[in-house]
Amino acid sequence: MGNDTGDDAAVYRLDDNTAIIVTVDFFTPITDDPYQFGLVAAANSLSDVYAMGGKPLVALNIVGFPAELAVEMLGDVLKGGYDKATQANCLIVGGHTVDDAEPKYGLSVVGLVEPGKEVSNANAQPGDVLVLTKPIGTGIIATGAKAGTTPDAIMKHAVETMAELNKNASEAMVRVGVNSCTDITGFGLMGHLRGMVRGSGVGANIRVADVPVLRGTWDLLEKGTVPGGTFRNMSGVEDTVDWDDKLSDQQRLLMCDAQTSGGLLISVPKAKLDQLLSELAVSSVETRAVVGEITAENSGRIRVTA
Ligand code: CO
Ligand code: CO
Repeated sequence: MGNDTGDDAAVYRLDDNTAIIVTVDFFTPITDDPYQFGLVAAANSLSDVYAMGGKPLVALNIVGFPAELAVEMLGDVLKGGYDKATQANCLIVGGHTVDDAEPKYGLSVVGLVEPGKEVSNANAQPGDVLVLTKPIGTGIIATGAKAGTTPDAIMKHAVETMAELNKNASEAMVRVGVNSCTDITGFGLMGHLRGMVRGSGVGANIRVADVPVLRGTWDLLEKGTVPGGTFRNMSGVEDTVDWDDKLSDQQRLLMCDAQTSGGLLISVPKAKLDQLLSELAVSSVETRAVVGEITAENSGRIRVTA
């Protein structure tokens, strides 16, 4: 499985029983706290393996760091990454650092999956129900934090959400057996769903009222706090999304908000929905939102209603 379906990671079969999943992700600090940044960056990098239904095995650190900054700070970033990888039962076995004007951190991760059991983003089926496992709004909240307008408690909660592994959600979906999955990151809910409907040759309906939103997001939106990436995401899905006339600009932007380390968007056959929701609950996945469904008609398009 390569680049053609825009899947979250590449999958390479070694033999009849084993395939490896290979992925890389890294970015600039989302918070001022180096340890928290390490936690979030690692959770985000590991997420693509979980989106494919795999188990992370080993990872390499990818680091950009300004030579003039205290090296202890880099130590804290790497400690965060190490702790998060440990929680994922993933070994960090090395890495590479370059001198960089702006700090950057992430992992290249190798995971394992049984061939044929990998969960593609390009296999959603008409009649499937869409389940989202984390609330959205991290782009807006982090942008407000940089501008000093996000209350500390709101940012703290958002960082905790971002640092949460998609491990439990992924294991639950693998136990149930689902048709398709992707994780919600930089392209936002609409952008990643766009990849799913186009790759799968299906349509989708989304109800804004059913999409879980981090607390504090609406206040910031109303004050006009929107990251540049979110505006770009919105233009990027112009060719795909049919917005209901009743939706405000803020609602549309929120559906496109660039996420960091967001949840899994799972496309599950309707007959297995209850089973998935209870497996997620048993696995302590707090957010288990049914946000829409997959349709045969309207192929390659997303219809968004209030
Ligand atoms: Co991804
Ligand atoms: Co990625």
